[in-house]
Amino acid sequence: MMESRPSIMGHLREATRELHKEAESRPLQRSMARGTLPRGAYAMYLGQLRHLHSALEEALDSAVSEEPALRDLHIDERRRVPDLDRDLAALGVEVSSVPALPPTERFSARVRRIATENPVALLGPLYVMEGSTNGGKFLARVLQRSLGLENGDGLAYMDPYGDDQPRMWSSFKQIADEVPLDAQQSEAVTEAAKLTFEAIAEISDVILPPDTFAVED
Ligand code: HEM
Repeated sequence: MMESRPSIMGHLREATRELHKEAESRPLQRSMARGTLPRGAYAMYLGQLRHLHSALEEALDSAVSEEPALRDLHIDERRRVPDLDRDLAALGVEVSSVPALPPTERFSARVRRIATENPVALLGPLYVMEGSTNGGKFLARVLQRSLGLENGDGLAYMDPYGDDQPRMWSSFKQIADEVPLDAQQSEAVTEAAKLTFEAIAEISDVILPPDTFAVED
């Protein structure tokens, strides 16, 4: 009998479950979900994501020549930089005026290193950022109301696919599960996914720091 290949998507989901919980409970994510995030903090978050996705997309642009298996995942429709540029413009923010915060800069440097040392591991960050469209759809609805964003202006990043989101996510998982990975590569993908969740949490905590005196619940 042919042994079925273990699903990297199933593995990533399990291996990062706790980190997802951590990320969605940062003060920034909580306040986004509650509808209390100030407009400036939202713009700063998108500005950081602009730096992060720009590093990731450039890394993937160069990685696909060495790792053709990633090519079907790194398609124009899944590029987030154009969405972020539109959102920042809608919010009246000049892209070049948003400096990369230290954790954003650190993450970008790590992504560039992964691209040269072990390009297939870029599947990890790609998984985390693509998977975030699951919660983004819900957050976009709250942000639209709380920030008074008309016609979806400023929400292209949070809800890039509209009604197609479930289909885009399931096709991402299907294609990603076809990427041939040995055990070592799977481990590298998982490590890179973990550091992406950690970077998002760190970036979020710089923008909206946890209250030092609050008792953790
Ligand atoms: C308030 C913030 C957030 C909420 C409410 C939220 C909510 C969700 C929901 C409802 C799902 C679908 C779960 C399922 O169908 O099993 C999901 C999946 C996911 N989210 Fe989030 N999320 C949030 C923040 C984030 C952040 C900040 C990231 C990373 C940048 C992230 C990455 C992911 C990933 C990778 C998945 C796919 C998990 C998998 O099935 O493998 N989420 N999220």
